[in-house]
Amino acid sequence: MDFTQIVAKKINHVFEDAFEQQHLEKVIEQPKDLSKGDYAFPAFVLAKHFHQAPQVIANKIVSGIDHSDFAKIEANGPYVNFFIQRSQFADQLLKDIVSMAHFGQNQDGIDQNVVIDLSSPNIAKPMSMGHLRSTVIGEAISKIAQANGYHTIKINFLGDWGTQFGLMIAAYKRWGDDDLINADPVNELVKLYVKINHEAESNPDLKDEGRAWFKKLEDGDQQATELWNWFKTVSLKEFQKVYDRLGVTFDSMDGEAFYNDKMAPVVKMFADKGLLSKSQGAEIIDLPKLLPDENYPIAMIKRSDGATQYITRDLASAIYRHDHYRFAKSLYVVGAEQKDHFDQMKAILRLAGDDWADDIEHIGFGLITMNGKKMSTRKGNVVALADVLDAAKRLAAKQISEKNPDLKNADQVAEEVGAGAVVFNDLQKDRHLAIDFNLEEIVQFEGDTGPYVQYTHARAMSILRKSKQTVDSQTGLILEDDEAWMIVSKLASYPGIIRRAWQLREPSVVAKYLLLLSRDFNSYYAHTKILVDDSGLNSRLYLVTALSKILEDGLNLLGVHAPDQM
Ligand code: ARG
Repeated sequence: MDFTQIVAKKINHVFEDAFEQQHLEKVIEQPKDLSKGDYAFPAFVLAKHFHQAPQVIANKIVSGIDHSDFAKIEANGPYVNFFIQRSQFADQLLKDIVSMAHFGQNQDGIDQNVVIDLSSPNIAKPMSMGHLRSTVIGEAISKIAQANGYHTIKINFLGDWGTQFGLMIAAYKRWGDDDLINADPVNELVKLYVKINHEAESNPDLKDEGRAWFKKLEDGDQQATELWNWFKTVSLKEFQKVYDRLGVTFDSMDGEAFYNDKMAPVVKMFADKGLLSKSQGAEIIDLPKLLPDENYPIAMIKRSDGATQYITRDLASAIYRHDHYRFAKSLYVVGAEQKDHFDQMKAILRLAGDDWADDIEHIGFGLITMNGKKMSTRKGNVVALADVLDAAKRLAAKQISEKNPDLKNADQVAEEVGAGAVVFNDLQKDRHLAIDFNLEEIVQFEGDTGPYVQYTHARAMSILRKSKQTVDSQTGLILEDDEAWMIVSKLASYPGIIRRAWQLREPSVVAKYLLLLSRDFNSYYAHTKILVDDSGLNSRLYLVTALSKILEDGLNLLGVHAPDQM
């Protein structure tokens, strides 16, 4: 039930429906101070219309309005304050939450496909913190889309194609040591890559050597292909360890290489439409010329040596995804630094007459740094995600052993809390913001952290374990105090949170909500004896049960586990 609508309707009724319902809804407020009611109507917005003082109008509303559904409706200066019948409301809401499998989810997106391009690390490099954001934001957005009824297709567009693999092969041919590589594949490959980039600064021939190898790879040369396949196999094995720990799965692993044989028809289509031009032997789409009023750079489609580019592969994959998945939306969860790339891609598709390009969205996000340090593979200062997860797990284990030394599955819980801390930290701020993090801080059980929400959930579960009775749905609930009401009204807003998180493509909407809900519950817990055997016990147990369900559901939407004990 939407109280804003109910309130607006009742007020309009007093004036014989003289106003537009929506206009009234828009001005209704939800006061922070509960003594001013749950909803407040600022009567001064009607003062001009009636040429009367707001106080007079407020009094008129109070005496003319239908008081049913509310415990109290009173004039307070220029405002009319509405107080909900708390127990009646709580009774219905909490029983719904407890009995429904997924309270708050909706079917808005029924029968519609959403394609999500996420993670997409580059092979032959360890998965860095830089790809963490794409992975966890993409995974959370997928779960949030599903909670809004959409069908999602998650694609890991592996960076497994491009001139850098030519350079990598060149480095391997020069310096590669199979024993070292087999012992620690990805790290050794990175060392080779760093080395050749470094040497190429003083010896440009190396770049040419790399380019030649990439050409061979594109043409299907056997030796080049075998090496490339080996790079890919060892990399995927490493990536999979991280995905398993984060609980992330994919519906497709079609990376850049998958499009090797699908670019020619796309390039031909651009040529047929007159979009392609030649420049010094290269084939380009001259966006500044084609779209003089916009600000796009020239798109290089094929280099003079015939090698295709990142944008060429993305154009081919965008078209493939459209034909293949008939998407309502196609999302690309990729760092904000690639905004121009996606703008360019959409502009080209539009020029080619593909209006569905408007359904493509770049879901950008800010840079992630750790203790103020940026990470770059080429310079060799990568922080491997697996190491971060290990460190987070150790910190979680330390706190668990202090707080709950007898916990049985402590190792698993430490893993869930460590990973949860890293993931939650990544999701709790607006995705556009850059984030810097300090591991010690984000694994704390107090503060704005994932473990804080997990701990609150575990606390609720422990109360329920200790209680000797289960909830009884037959008796009416009585919850009148302000602290319980804070929780109830927040639980009621969960369906709106799920919608909003999808509309904004913003997991932080859920994360921030969970932090506030946890705070409200902890303050309730500090002031209320929940397990006292009095007439309110069943109502309080209902509150705790509903709260624990929503905390778990919300954490799961973010891809975070909610252990029952920690
Ligand atoms: N592999 C790329 C990188 O690490 C990201 C790919 C993003 N997805 C895409 N369709 N372009 O920068």
